[in-house]
Amino acid sequence: MELHKILIIGASSGIGAALAVAMARPGRTLGLVARRRSELDGVAAQVGEKGGKAVVHTCDASDDAAVAACWQAIVAEMGGCDALVYSSGVMPEVGPREFDIAKDRHIIEVNVIGAMAWLNLGAAHMAGQGKGVLCGIGSVAGDRGRRQAPAYGASKAALHTYLESLRNRLSVLGVDVVTIKPGPVQTPMLGARKLPLTVSAEVAGRRIAQAIERGEHTVYVHPGYRLIMGMIRCIPSLLFRRLAI
Ligand SMILES: NC(=O)c1ccc[n+]([C@@H]2O[C@H](COP(=O)([O-])OP(=O)(O)OC[C@H]3O[C@@H](n4cnc5c(N)ncnc54)[C@H](OP(=O)(O)O)[C@@H]3O)[C@@H](O)[C@H]2O)c1
Repeated sequence: MELHKILIIGASSGIGAALAVAMARPGRTLGLVARRRSELDGVAAQVGEKGGKAVVHTCDASDDAAVAACWQAIVAEMGGCDALVYSSGVMPEVGPREFDIAKDRHIIEVNVIGAMAWLNLGAAHMAGQGKGVLCGIGSVAGDRGRRQAPAYGASKAALHTYLESLRNRLSVLGVDVVTIKPGPVQTPMLGARKLPLTVSAEVAGRRIAQAIERGEHTVYVHPGYRLIMGMIRCIPSLLFRRLAI
């Protein structure tokens, strides 16, 4: 399906910003949402350089009422919505002996509740028009309960399952639901960490744009991670808990 109006939540930085630039072209309107206005304006300028139109709104994804108001306003200004992408996410450092409910709650509020708040609105809209694409940026971290970041990994596992359920509900209505599972991507979230098979935000943005345009189901941004995570999922729990991965 032709996608003319694409809304990206978490478009101020990293993967969301790179995706906006990758999808920009003449005749397309990109809705750009996050909290930081100046960063969004910078991305809007890059969209404009590629001949696209950008509509910018600020919104905190953890505020349900603000999300509902922002959705109404930005879809009206865009003149509709053919695709909605939820890329917002947080991954604060968690120490090996740290068990902090405030930090964990914040991760769940942005990565899961915020995603549901936006994707529910998108789902109702797409179901009503009988076409469209919903996309969520998950993570390979959601494929197994690794020791480093319990709440972050759990948030991505929840998002993957939620997206799968949405796909099963909406595919009969003509709506595609795309789950993206990036491995490491060079963005402010990754910071200075050096991890194998890291891709640039631009490469990730282009691959995610392709997945959305094709209506693919579950996409590992670096294809090597499909194999790696397939093997990691097979490691027995008794052995997995002894591995520092
Ligand atoms: N980078 C990686 O290696 C990697 C790997 C796997 C998955 N991911 C996932 O990819 C997605 C994008 O991450 P990134 O690497 O691009 O990180 P990033 O550069 O830090 O971008 C995070 C985005 O989330 C937005 N955000 C954070 N809190 C928000 C809130 N309360 N309300 C609305 N927006 C909020 C930020 O915008 P504002 O601060 O302006 O609000 C920003 O646009 C995340 O879901 C992340 O979990 C990243």
